[in-house]
Amino acid sequence: MAYGATTILEGIDLDLPKGQVLALLGASGSGKTTLLRLVAGLLMPVAGQVQIAGRTVADPAQGLALPPEKRGLGMVFQDYALWPHLSVARNVAFPLEMSRISGPERAARVTRALDRVGLGAMADRRPSDLSGGQQQRVAIARAIVAEPPLVLFDEPLSNLDRELRETMVDELAQLVAELELSAVYVTHDHAEALALAHRIAVMRGGGIEQLASPAELIDQPASAAVADFLRLGTLLPARRRGGGWVIEGTDISLGHGPGAAEGSAAQVLLPERALGLGPRGPARLEAVVRGQQVRSTGFALTLTIAGTDQVLRLLAPHPARPGEAVALSYSQDALRWFPTGT
Ligand SMILES: Nc1ncnc2c1ncn2[C@@H]1O[C@H](COP(=O)(O)OP(=O)(O)OP(=O)(O)O)[C@@H](O)[C@H]1O
Ligand SMILES: [Mg+2]
Repeated sequence: MAYGATTILEGIDLDLPKGQVLALLGASGSGKTTLLRLVAGLLMPVAGQVQIAGRTVADPAQGLALPPEKRGLGMVFQDYALWPHLSVARNVAFPLEMSRISGPERAARVTRALDRVGLGAMADRRPSDLSGGQQQRVAIARAIVAEPPLVLFDEPLSNLDRELRETMVDELAQLVAELELSAVYVTHDHAEALALAHRIAVMRGGGIEQLASPAELIDQPASAAVADFLRLGTLLPARRRGGGWVIEGTDISLGHGPGAAEGSAAQVLLPERALGLGPRGPARLEAVVRGQQVRSTGFALTLTIAGTDQVLRLLAPHPARPGEAVALSYSQDALRWFPTGT
């Protein structure tokens, strides 16, 4: 896919099994929306194919390009895209009008879709008389009312405040599962992708850096960039010395790790979830508390590894004092190694 002479997406090969959700996760500018627009038919690929439910909908080699309305899609956008002059019910009915479903059938389907998103009582209101979260529910009802084979979501929750977003993620996950929707879900929020998707494509620079299930992604990030983007923990620069690994520029041991030539360099992911307070395991680190934020689930500590400026984060059950020295333990098999050469 290219804008003018600039290639934006390249080497993308994705398939979505029926009834599954694929999340496209990546930083701003990584190509998520561009890829979604290709599927929707709002953009044409320069080369390659798009198929939906077994039907080829775009193939430049054949000069084939079905317009969006012929692709049988539901779409939900960040800005809801509701018609302000139509009632909630008319907004939701729109895709049915397009496919000439009318009368009692249409009314019943609209009611069912609105009930599904908890807006049965709001059918006669205008979108402007609804909250942001309710407006987005209307957009979701409109996307599912015709029971399309594929629903596309582009950052549907990013205009909502955090609390509402968390509730909506849960609701959406439940709805998607109940309806067995096949969906592509674009987001830059890793928590949303992890909560909703069966598989996640982590996008970077117009390509796919990793395609994996949420559990795999957390356990086996393919690169330091993926680990960083998912905020899995701290990436430490490491060097091979004396048959083991140390944190670069220090004598702090990170254990035996994978075999490598003396002097090799690596980035090591120390996952936050592998880190505990207290000198329990054989793998330990001395650290100094730098700051603390109170959370509903505990105390979010920011620490540095003693004698370095490497920052660690940890959710602790008890408060700590800035400046306090603490011992941390971690499990060595939780470390993930990314070679960087020498
Ligand atoms: N109409 C356009 N003309 C030229 N370049 C474009 C156009 N639209 C997007 N791009 C470029 O394509 C690349 C991918 O953009 P895209 O909108 O797909 O990113 P994104 O991952 O959706 O980002 P965001 O999270 O900010 O929405 C970016 O480098 C962007 O600058
Ligand atoms: Mg985008």
